[in-house]
Amino acid sequence: MASCSSLFFVLFVFCFYSGVIPSFIEVACEPTTKAQFNHQSMLMCAVKPKENIRNLKIILVVWRKTGLENPVAVFDNRNTKPEYKKQQGYEFADHSLKTMNVSLLISNTKLQHEGEYKCDVMTDSGPATRTTMLKVTAKYNTPTVRSIDQKDIPNVHKTLICEASGGYPKGQLRWFDENKTEWTKSAKLTENKRNDGLFELSSELQLLTGSTFSEYTCVVYNASYDKEDSASIVVNNPSRLSKIKTPGSAIIAPVVVIGSLIVGLLMALLFFRRRSQQNRRLSTTPLMGTHHEVSASDPGDDQTTIGGVNGKDSMA
Ligand SMILES: *[C@@H]1O[C@H](CO)[C@@H](O)[C@H](O)[C@H]1NC(C)=O
Ligand SMILES: *[C@@H]1O[C@H](CO)[C@@H](O)[C@H](O)[C@H]1NC(C)=O
Repeated sequence: MASCSSLFFVLFVFCFYSGVIPSFIEVACEPTTKAQFNHQSMLMCAVKPKENIRNLKIILVVWRKTGLENPVAVFDNRNTKPEYKKQQGYEFADHSLKTMNVSLLISNTKLQHEGEYKCDVMTDSGPATRTTMLKVTAKYNTPTVRSIDQKDIPNVHKTLICEASGGYPKGQLRWFDENKTEWTKSAKLTENKRNDGLFELSSELQLLTGSTFSEYTCVVYNASYDKEDSASIVVNNPSRLSKIKTPGSAIIAPVVVIGSLIVGLLMALLFFRRRSQQNRRLSTTPLMGTHHEVSASDPGDDQTTIGGVNGKDSMA
């Protein structure tokens, strides 16, 4: 059975490439098919006669995937009873094939299904072949954002971590603050391939002490830069308070400076007034007794006491 079909296939290939059988048909396929991971996908192909052919009959259809040794699906209509052979997960979309619909169905699309497929068709009006691509995409889950306090990194008070998983192909995580300013350049993106081949994206954004924004949004983009989903986090920012304080202290500072200047001036004024009062007293003494000044420089003299008495008198 196996040898029979492989013999036929050799014959088929021979006939096809040598051009022994002139072909009046073609296979028309979607050049690329986008499939969703874990969903059913269909490689749409149809046999099209080039001329008006009545009762066109499909004899053989062989679907192959590049890289795989065995065909993934075969429809063999050489005998009285048509036969289907297929690998698990593959199916002909239209089993009758009378409609010339030779589309291939993949019941549950996984990453290993991605790639190039070739559809060889043999009809009673000649052979035809066509290749088509299957591209698998998977949507990322809604990202999660969390914040961790940082103590050991200088100038950093928080790290925001955004994670989105289950997407394919490799996407992107981008950060925005509440003013829609982008912070992605300050973030570090790491990607991981899960066992099922899907990607796990993680982005770390360090918030510097003094950053004033309170809400950050992490947006997950797919491989064609289309926004898929997003999540936001409100940051209770202690540095935001200190930042609010800063302009306040800028107002407080001059107040303190001016205040202390005034106090200083007042004190200086008081001091000078005292001084001038004392000076007046001192300067009045000589007027009252010239001897005092002379006697002051002469401690041994009795007149010091007199001077002192004089001073006391002036006070009284
Ligand atoms: C082929 O058949 C499938 C299943 O009936 C259908 O969904 C698809 O649209 C058909 N394709 C063409 C090209 O007619
Ligand atoms: C990205 O998302 C857009 C919109 O949902 C979609 O049309 C496109 O196919 C997606 N691309 C990939 C590579 O997933």
